[in-house]
Amino acid sequence: TEQGPGNMSSADNFGSKKFPQTIIIGVKKGGTRALLEFLRVHPDVRAVGAEPHFFDRFYDKGLEWYRSALGECLLTVIQGGTNHKPATGCWVPEAHQCARATKAVPFGPNRQKGSYGVHEIQYQDLMPRTLEGQITMEKTPSYFVTKEAPLRLFQLSRDTKLIVVVRDPVTRAVSDYTQTLSKQPGLPSFQSLAFRNSTARLIDTSWSAVRIGIYAKHLENWLQYFPLSRFLFVSGERLVTDPAGEMARVQDFLGLKRVVTDKHFYFNQTKGFPCLKKPEGSSRPRCLGKSKGRPHPQISPEVLLRLREFYRPFNMKFYQMTGHDFGWD
Ligand code: A3P
Repeated sequence: TEQGPGNMSSADNFGSKKFPQTIIIGVKKGGTRALLEFLRVHPDVRAVGAEPHFFDRFYDKGLEWYRSALGECLLTVIQGGTNHKPATGCWVPEAHQCARATKAVPFGPNRQKGSYGVHEIQYQDLMPRTLEGQITMEKTPSYFVTKEAPLRLFQLSRDTKLIVVVRDPVTRAVSDYTQTLSKQPGLPSFQSLAFRNSTARLIDTSWSAVRIGIYAKHLENWLQYFPLSRFLFVSGERLVTDPAGEMARVQDFLGLKRVVTDKHFYFNQTKGFPCLKKPEGSSRPRCLGKSKGRPHPQISPEVLLRLREFYRPFNMKFYQMTGHDFGWD
């Protein structure tokens, strides 16, 4: 019999929609999708697959939008091609994605190709329903670098647990550049974007690929509203080399039983990354998509070295603030 989304999501009709008690607030290209997908394996975690972007882009839509969040996908025109630039909140059937603003985001791992339509629309809620004892989560990596986000979240709930997946800022910058390059093939070289003045080799901190990696600065902004005890910093590197170990820390932090363990992972040689043996709602093994764990372009060692020097003092500050040496230097 066909396992349509109707069957799979029937549990979504129970429980209630809550604001997230936990948010993965950053960082972009840190490994946030991997962490969210790994957490979704846990029966006590209910996570929204798409990035809601409430505390940055859609704050004006109000809290009810965020909570009950029958997002604009509900009103969707079922149309759009692969090259179609989606309008805010539209369902792109070819991509099998709910697209918001100009960014298409996967709508969850369970959706089958072609199973869109009216039937599916009721599953396009932003916040999943959660039962007593379950944790509602979302991830929007841009929150970490959004000036207004800490105050906005603080005003909603000061108890929210915050998870930040951090990765060597140099690799992160290259990963970020790789992502932009994949969407804009004519993009100037990494080097020309990274330096404000190529002879003096001044780093251009206004370039977002550089700016996002100044973790100490962004964290300072958050610490004006949330104590350090509310944060968990996940090592993006360890999430790859020891996913079960990192997941143990995350589950402990969230007060969850350690359900997600080494039994859930296998290392896929072709992908070069850990993959899930049984993702949420599926019995087949699954790796993350092609845009996660892709090859980076070659960047000259001198450029990387210069960038590494640039980040070192900020990294040291960050280690000191978090009490954790992430080993990037
Ligand atoms: P690269 O594609 O540059 O390697 P995010 O989900 O926050 O955008 O992060 C993307 C990064 O997650 C990838 O960057 C990849 O290195 C990392 N990652 C961590 N664990 C992964 C996994 N199990 N599968 C694929 N990518 C993973």
